[in-house]
Amino acid sequence: MSEQTKPAQFGVAGMGVMGASLALNIADHGFRVAVWDRHPEKLQQVQQENPKQALQGFAELEKFVAGLERPRRILLMITAGAPVDEMMGRLFPLLSPGDVIMDAGNSWYLDTRRREALCKEKGFHFLGIGVSGGEEGARNGPSIMPGGPKDAYALVQPVLEAIAARSEEGLCVTHVGPEGAGHFVKMVHNGIEYADMQLLAETYDVLRRGLGLDAATLADLFSKWNEGIAESFLLETTIKVLRKRDPETGKPLVDLVLDKAGQKGTGKWTVQVALDLGVPVPSIASALDARNLSSRKDERVAASKKLHGPDISLSSEEKKELAQWAHDALYAARVVTYAQGMRLIQAASDEYKWGVSLAEMARIWRGGCIIRAKLLTPLRESFQQQSTLPNLMVSEAFSPVLDKMAPAWRKFVGVATKSGIPVPVFSSSLAYLDSYRSPELPQNLTQAQRDAFGAHTYQRRDKPDAGFVHTDWLK
Ligand code: 6PG
Repeated sequence: MSEQTKPAQFGVAGMGVMGASLALNIADHGFRVAVWDRHPEKLQQVQQENPKQALQGFAELEKFVAGLERPRRILLMITAGAPVDEMMGRLFPLLSPGDVIMDAGNSWYLDTRRREALCKEKGFHFLGIGVSGGEEGARNGPSIMPGGPKDAYALVQPVLEAIAARSEEGLCVTHVGPEGAGHFVKMVHNGIEYADMQLLAETYDVLRRGLGLDAATLADLFSKWNEGIAESFLLETTIKVLRKRDPETGKPLVDLVLDKAGQKGTGKWTVQVALDLGVPVPSIASALDARNLSSRKDERVAASKKLHGPDISLSSEEKKELAQWAHDALYAARVVTYAQGMRLIQAASDEYKWGVSLAEMARIWRGGCIIRAKLLTPLRESFQQQSTLPNLMVSEAFSPVLDKMAPAWRKFVGVATKSGIPVPVFSSSLAYLDSYRSPELPQNLTQAQRDAFGAHTYQRRDKPDAGFVHTDWLK
């Protein structure tokens, strides 16, 4: 039997950009890969453009499944939501007990839980796999976050390990936990991604409007930052974006991009789940709101004629120091953002008894994924030293850094605020830090108000044993 006609060791369904890139990556590592897509022309295109990888293409699903070695390992890279259920429904009659279906899209983690249970009933395995790194990552090494039964993971582990990114801290894949743990972690990854992107956008805005820096000058400044502790993939990407010129006009292309942000939903899910679990994630929520508000362009343009802001006028000290303050603010706010994401993963892991290791998540995010950043190394070490750390901000590694950088952060937010430049993620992250470090918060008043108008009761700090009491405040 030639290599071409031997049963394939791995199947990939869905030949969009991500599916095709993953299939080629798997084939590069010596696995025989079968591919399927409901549009035969997509199959042909991938095969024709990549003759070296010898992907076995099937236009018919039956033949695709029949052409796989058992237990079959089928990775779905299709649109999340109903198409995944539909695809599973088509696959079920074609599968044999012990076969593994993997969903590598950005699926809702409760769908993943449900799908895993359904597959179990039918004698199949199901893994919900978070994959990060975009097209380039999928092709050359993504960060992979697989969730589901451990024995099912063992069946696909060699393939996932072969294709995953590698960093100095090892392979960027590990078994995240059972059920929807992998998709949950990927969702939070995206939530952090939203906040980090918004922090970069706010930094860019304050420096361009406050100091009048153009895209090229900002790219030079950010390049210096990227050589130090603030190094990250998103900062690197920002530098490349700022340097890109429009071939038609010669202008920085970023200046020609309409300021209305899109989204596919994972950031929104992160905030929704955080609300359900009672975990504050203000940095992520503010980033989401910032995208939503940006998309109301017409309203903003109309409002700008009615609502007026201050003139931008910086003192000579502010002009001199603003870039350094921005650097420190960016780093510190990013720490706070990652802290919120980690706390959310911990809460879900506790709720569902997933046993997710935060140190391991930081490790597999160190390479391949969109939020890879230098700070993930001390972040991993912090959770390794103390897995029960209540919040990253109080770790040995980060609490002194936050103390040191917070003054610059406050000055940065101060300049933005007095200039009328919105910095929603910088300011909400700072408020999170200030709330978290406050032994006293004004919620004594909140409790008194609740009791006053709704008899919701309150506890007395001077009589802890008295339990919940009520006062008739309004008499
Ligand atoms: C990744 C990315 C990728 C994508 C998200 C967010 O990890 O490779 O997170 O999954 O960028 O879908 O996209 P939106 O900004 O459109 O929500």
